[in-house]
Amino acid sequence: MEYALERFTAQVNAAIAATGRVAPALIETTTPKPNIPADLAFPAFRAAKDLRVPPPQLAAELAAAITIPPDSLIGKVEATGPFLNFSMHPQRLAAAVLTEIAACGDGYGQQPDGVGKLIVVDYSAPNIAKRMHVGHIRSTIIGQSLVNIFRALGYTVVGDNHLGDWGKQFGVVLASIALYGTPDAEGETAMAALEAQYARYSGVMKAQPSLEDEARAWSLRLEQGDPEARRLWQWCVDLTLEAAQKNYNRLGIRFDYAYGESFYEHLLPGVINETVQSEAAYRDDDNSVVAEIDNLPKFIIQRSDGGTVYMTRDIATVEFRLREFSPAQIVYVVDGRQEMHFRQLFAIMRAMGYAQHIGLVHIPFGVVTTLDGQPLSTKKGNMVYLETLLDEAVARARAVVEQKSPELPDAEKAAVAEAVGVGAVIYNDLYQDTKRNITLDWDRMLATDGNSATYLQYSHARCRSILRRAEADGSAPSDATLLTHPAETGLIKHLARLPEALREAGSRYAPFVIADWCYTTAREFGVFFEQCQVLKAENPELRAARLALVAATAHALKAGLGLLGIRTPERM
Ligand code: ARG
Repeated sequence: MEYALERFTAQVNAAIAATGRVAPALIETTTPKPNIPADLAFPAFRAAKDLRVPPPQLAAELAAAITIPPDSLIGKVEATGPFLNFSMHPQRLAAAVLTEIAACGDGYGQQPDGVGKLIVVDYSAPNIAKRMHVGHIRSTIIGQSLVNIFRALGYTVVGDNHLGDWGKQFGVVLASIALYGTPDAEGETAMAALEAQYARYSGVMKAQPSLEDEARAWSLRLEQGDPEARRLWQWCVDLTLEAAQKNYNRLGIRFDYAYGESFYEHLLPGVINETVQSEAAYRDDDNSVVAEIDNLPKFIIQRSDGGTVYMTRDIATVEFRLREFSPAQIVYVVDGRQEMHFRQLFAIMRAMGYAQHIGLVHIPFGVVTTLDGQPLSTKKGNMVYLETLLDEAVARARAVVEQKSPELPDAEKAAVAEAVGVGAVIYNDLYQDTKRNITLDWDRMLATDGNSATYLQYSHARCRSILRRAEADGSAPSDATLLTHPAETGLIKHLARLPEALREAGSRYAPFVIADWCYTTAREFGVFFEQCQVLKAENPELRAARLALVAATAHALKAGLGLLGIRTPERM
């Protein structure tokens, strides 16, 4: 479907073309400056130069020559100096936007740009036998939002959780389990116990070489498929995934695949040969395989002892994904500190002749810091883990709910607190450019006004409560052309922008564009609600029209927050 704003833009272009004065290639419109009371502008400079007339003269001529068809979304055209300014027809816009939103419901904004194209999103990717820390949380939340955004743009999306389930360190994990036993606990508690065992073993290992030999032996056994090693490893994988799954469910995360690094093990000898044969890499004097491409720092593909590394598995992963999915893009949502790794990976793939016309994209994200700017780190002992983070957020949200909505039944309070707490954590990851660092500032995250998920959820719930009180969901016959108050027009114009925001979010890999749109929507709604009586409108017709606008706002906010992965309770 072509949304109202696109139709408006097309109509403006057609109106300019119809004058016959401007060559089609020179018809290019822009958004006017904020102080200009218009919606789209045609700067006449280039066309005027072409025609050898002063730009203001051409603008004036065009303004006089344009006739606006009666059903056009264009309301007014005016020449201001060298600019030709177009304004939307507020009533026709209102009718168009409200009809569109009523037709699309919570799917408002979706469009088919990506139909027929596939995007692989590599996200979350926690490491086995370790708790998910804030880095993986960011990847999980940003990744899922990008998955939602691409799907809404019509792409087929394959979400793959590239688990860190292979590598030398597993020798130590298995050796520590063999020595100290399997922890008798569940969830993050069990994971914490495994981490402690790992640390204890590594500590002792430094002084006791026999333990080191033991770890190396386990690592070898695992690689060679020894049943006991495989059994212990599988136990670790299951335990980690079970703990992770609980958190994924709370966050609304669903993967299509979770192949993990181990999945590629059997492909690695072939991959290493291929890197050398294609001359993207070479075998060094010490028998290691290394690559030096495009002036990037030299990197290892096979260690001198024959072992493989993270990079080797990532090369195999790209090849596999290209074969298996024929993607248009592979998007990696991974900590900014791995930027060099991905530059090297993408460079060697191209050097080997792969992905010449396929986007390989790394979406880096910043670190999470405490309120006073200290990065959270396992070493410093101030790390925050996903399960405890969500629990803390929900407990704090519960206090807000108790204070704001004491009348809700207990079970509903719990459900709202879960949606608000989890929403706060998600929004904190998404409301600004993902490259920036984030802080865990609970007061800001759970503020009922300001740029927080809580405020947005309240705005949605307020819409729903008005509609409940009106005992109608706005689908009662209503005449949107009655909506001419500036606050109404402001809100409607903004609602009309969700499709455009979605497109921009997709092309910039930027969920914050959607977050911004949601925040402005909630603010515009607040202005409307303050200035326009809804339930007590001057007459029943206006009341019905305003209720339809409230219903549209609720749908659009729900659609926007849904793209971020944030739930919208009916009451709060
Ligand atoms: N497991 C890795 C880590 O925790 C992230 C993996 C990201 N994905 C990838 N294909 N390298 O650092």
